[in-house]
Amino acid sequence: MKKITLEQLKPGMVTAEDIYAMNGQQLLVPKGTTLTELKLQLLHVFSIRSVRINDEILDSADSAENSGDTYFGGHIPDFISKLPDKVREARTQEIKEYKEAYSQGLNYFQVAVNNLVEKNTDLNVDTILNQTVSLLDTKGRYSSILEMLIYMKEYDSSIYAHCINTSLLCNMLAHWLDYSEEDCHLAAACGLFHDVGQLTVPDEIVQKPGPLTPQEREIINTHPEKGYELLKEFGVNETVRLSALMHHEKCDGSGYPRQLKDEQIDPFAKLVTICNIYDAMTSDRPYRKAMTPFAVLEHFEMVGLSKFDARAILTFLENTANTYLNCPVRLSNQKIGYVVFINRSRLGRPIVQCGDEFIDLSKQKDIMITEMLPVV
Ligand SMILES: [Fe+2]
Repeated sequence: MKKITLEQLKPGMVTAEDIYAMNGQQLLVPKGTTLTELKLQLLHVFSIRSVRINDEILDSADSAENSGDTYFGGHIPDFISKLPDKVREARTQEIKEYKEAYSQGLNYFQVAVNNLVEKNTDLNVDTILNQTVSLLDTKGRYSSILEMLIYMKEYDSSIYAHCINTSLLCNMLAHWLDYSEEDCHLAAACGLFHDVGQLTVPDEIVQKPGPLTPQEREIINTHPEKGYELLKEFGVNETVRLSALMHHEKCDGSGYPRQLKDEQIDPFAKLVTICNIYDAMTSDRPYRKAMTPFAVLEHFEMVGLSKFDARAILTFLENTANTYLNCPVRLSNQKIGYVVFINRSRLGRPIVQCGDEFIDLSKQKDIMITEMLPVV
């Protein structure tokens, strides 16, 4: 790690710390970001004087290429940065390794949970958790899990994958909330088993591509109680069971199955509620396409934050938005640009820079982010 002045910074260098605006509140560039001309301009605009840089990657910064790659069938504008070769290779390798671990975890979980539903096994929560989610979290890369999950969604969108994703998100949120290691582990277990009751609902209802009839909705809405009872039979930890029972309850009493209110809902179930909604909305479903993370953040803001635990939802939204700062995106007007500024009062509607143009989505309400593009 090396501290250098703004004048010495070059595109391709990688930041070794989070860089905040002068007020210390607004994250401008997160740690681990590969700098581009646009990001350097942003640092100039906010009068940042010096920055700590990861000098292990300094050498490769000079080798950044600017070939005319294409992505998703479209030409990438010149202002979208290309990662240096070494960084790109490391990133590709990381995604590959993650996908292999994810695939193993998914297979294990699918077999274990099916045995559970068919009641021909002894359930050991810790064993299943260690064989699935812990496998994916050994390096503690909490900041990249949101990004990795985007890649995993192309791979699998089953209910089993949803449980694993929710578990990883709960673990990440618990860390953001500074929970103890033990409670982070418990949050992961709550996420992993929250939807086991869904496996007792007939596939033709869960997979139905159109709207559900009132009778079908009634059947689906029994899954929290079925999950609770199933886990109870196996003597599973009460907190994990309560998350299965309460993950569709809302703090304002508008949830189901029991219309519980704030203090009646288990604190861990409140984390699962948030992570469950985020993962479900960012996944393809038989009746709709996946939404972008920013559209989901906007959804949370629109439905009203009073439905959720105040500290947990604010922590989740703010950290998630900051994760996507500097990401390339496609807009509904087909322009491609970078998320350069998160509007704290409208987290789902950031400022996007497209070439020389700054588009403030909190003001230009007819434009939305339609796709998150990976840095290539
Ligand atoms: Fe559910």
